[in-house]
This record gives sequence, C-alpha cells and structure tokens, in this order.
Amino acid sequence: MAATRTFSIIKPDATRRNLTGAITKKLEDAGLRVVASKRIHMTRDQAEGFYAVHKERPFYNDLCAFMTSGPVVVQVLEGENAVLRNREVMGATNPADAAEGTIRKEFAESIEANSVHGSDSDENAKIEIDFFFKPEEIVG
Ligand code: CMP
Repeated sequence: MAATRTFSIIKPDATRRNLTGAITKKLEDAGLRVVASKRIHMTRDQAEGFYAVHKERPFYNDLCAFMTSGPVVVQVLEGENAVLRNREVMGATNPADAAEGTIRKEFAESIEANSVHGSDSDENAKIEIDFFFKPEEIVG
C-alpha cells in the first residue's frame, strides 16, 4: 500500500515541557516518518484560520489563545495509512478517554492542552499541510 501523509502539531503545553523529542519518537515508533518539521510561534490569525471549523464552539477563543501561548512544532508525517496511524498513536482528544500507551494518555494535561493535533481525514490533511508548508519544504 502506498504511503500517505498527515499533518501534526506538537502543542505549546508539550514544547513548554521539552517533550518534542519524546513525542516525535512515539510517532516514529508508530511507523510514521517526519518529512517536514518546523518550530513556529503561531499568530492569532493563523490559529483562528486553522481552527475556523470550530468557530462556533464554546472553546474556540480559549483554544486560539492556548495555541498562541508558546511555540508549536508543525510537522508532515508520512507512512502507510498515515491519518489513521497518527490518530491511533495520539489517542482520544480528552486524555481521560485516551488508551494506554498513546501520546495523550502519557503526556496531555487536559482536553485543551492535549499535547498534539492530528488531521482527521486525508482531505483535511492536505488542507492543513498546505496551510503551513510550501511543497519544497516537504522532503520525503
Ligand atoms: P485538536 O485535535 O487540535 O482539535 C480541536 C482542539 O480543541 C482539540 O484538539 C483540543 O485542544 C481543543 N478543545 C478544547 N476543548 C475541547 C472540547 N470540549 N472538545 C474538543 N476539543 C476541545
């Protein structure tokens, strides 16, 4: 089966606790390859645009404030069934519901400060990758 790509963010709660390497190791151990990576401080405009789909949700403002509260690491991950594989290793959005061994079970602080984001479909992966990366920044 051909490799596919997904988009990942290591969130401010994780960069603050110096967990970039530990989280990346879990992604790699799950069979995903980091084919693009950059550490950025998201602007408010970027956070609002990226999470526009959640605009009407009660947590939207807090989420945008949190995502701009410190550095994040945006990544493109490649592997067989990359979206699903990444969602499996991330675990449930709420760490209280996340399975043993998942990133969120091990590292997340709360449903908001949940250490990582991952695309939920191939279609959204492409949109999210294009939001943060130019094609030449992705080296597979
Ligand atoms: P993420 O996968 O990045 O997608 C939306 C984010 O909103 C989610 O992870 C959490 O960081 C945040 N969030 C905060 N509260 C909630 C909630 N009640 N339900 C879902 N997501 C939430």
